[in-house]
Amino acid sequence: MNRSTLTIEALGPAIGARVGGVSLADGVDDGQRDALLAALLKHHVLFFEGQPIGPQAQRALAARFGDLHIHPVYPQAPGVPEIIVLDTSHDNPPDNDNWHTDVTFLAAPAMGAILSAQLLPPGGGDTLWASGIAAWEALSKPWRTMLAGLNAEHDFLKSFPAHRFARTPEEKVRWEKARSDHPPRLHPVVRTHPVSGRQGLFVNEGFTTRIVELSAGESDAVLRQLFAHGARPEFTVRWRWKLGDVAFWDNRLTQHYATADYLPARRVMHRATIVGDVPFYRPD
Ligand code: OGA
Ligand code: MN
Repeated sequence: MNRSTLTIEALGPAIGARVGGVSLADGVDDGQRDALLAALLKHHVLFFEGQPIGPQAQRALAARFGDLHIHPVYPQAPGVPEIIVLDTSHDNPPDNDNWHTDVTFLAAPAMGAILSAQLLPPGGGDTLWASGIAAWEALSKPWRTMLAGLNAEHDFLKSFPAHRFARTPEEKVRWEKARSDHPPRLHPVVRTHPVSGRQGLFVNEGFTTRIVELSAGESDAVLRQLFAHGARPEFTVRWRWKLGDVAFWDNRLTQHYATADYLPARRVMHRATIVGDVPFYRPD
């Protein structure tokens, strides 16, 4: 069992921490789970180095933090449907080289996700995370006043278009069901974190299509500004993966970006996605 104390080293003021003193593949006890959740609230993404973990152990680890989501489109690990396999190479280029928050097309998007590096290219393939809380706090007061209480539409089709995800007859069957199961959803543009109570920006280029209270032209202009603002380096951390590294992020007020600079080499990542709750905005 894990008996050593957790060590947590911040990687910057806004986001990111390196965590040691826990062996993820052995499972986490209640005390470790609470300590990890507290660290997640403070740092938004946690990195664990050199902890190779198989699909079953990764599922068991993630399940300690909540129910797991089964993705409607992405490939699954054999016999472990809760684990998404992101296996990218020349023949299957990555689709996550954009700033996004996972599964915001759901009425209740993920609370968090755990990603493990299974096979890495010789160079490149870093992942970046950005804090929606830091982004929100850096906006001017007039912008914050305007945005508070607005709602945005999040659309599955923006990141999962048919031309990319319904290419074979088998894919088409799965994709058609995914599409009809996931109509566009509205979420607050400014979200209150359900645990910390902090406010953060909750729009992402991957899924957000429009702010419904604004005209089309206003919405386009505001979203363009918010997408650019949310990705400012001040709000980000960049992780250079080593084999066996694991990242655990709070998906409620963060975005991430997988750099696609390693093709034609191959890169394989496994993701477990922890179910979250319905986003809300509660004024300060
Ligand atoms: C994800 C994702 C990033 C990466 O798993 O949700 O976007 O670096 N992955 O593979
Ligand atoms: Mn993602």
